[in-house]
Amino acid sequence: MNRTTSLGKPGNLLLVLAAILAMSSFTGDAYASGDAINGKKLFDKSQCQKCHGTEVFTREERKVDNVEALEKQVRLCDSQLSVNWFDDEISDVVAYLNETYYKFPKDSDNKPEE
Ligand code: HEC
Repeated sequence: MNRTTSLGKPGNLLLVLAAILAMSSFTGDAYASGDAINGKKLFDKSQCQKCHGTEVFTREERKVDNVEALEKQVRLCDSQLSVNWFDDEISDVVAYLNETYYKFPKDSDNKPEE
């Protein structure tokens, strides 16, 4: 009955550390962290629609059929222009195009679309 209870404390510290780790790994995920609202801004002010409109994203025979392929294509098309988006800008645009047109399930939540 005389035992000290102070040994319970280090557990709390571990919880805090785990929480910090969880938050920092969240920002490391390209697709989960893509900001679709910023992606829309970037897309709208870019010259992405110089060669094609948004119809290529929804046409029946579209080439892109998963998030990785979408990112690859955005990088490829980006390199046709002189915008040279940074990696986080690429993932913002990927998030925007995915949320608006492609609707692939994200890495983090694999819930079926529609
Ligand atoms: C120099 C011309 C050009 C520019 C500029 C351009 N694209 Fe493309 N894009 C293409 C061509 C060509 C295709 C392939 C069309 C095809 O295969 O029929 C394509 C296809 C795509 C696709 C795949 C469509 C599919 O079939 O699913 C995406 C996504 C895309 N572009 C995004 C972008 C984005 C984002 C930008 C702005 C950074 C951009 N494009 C700018 C030429 C361009």
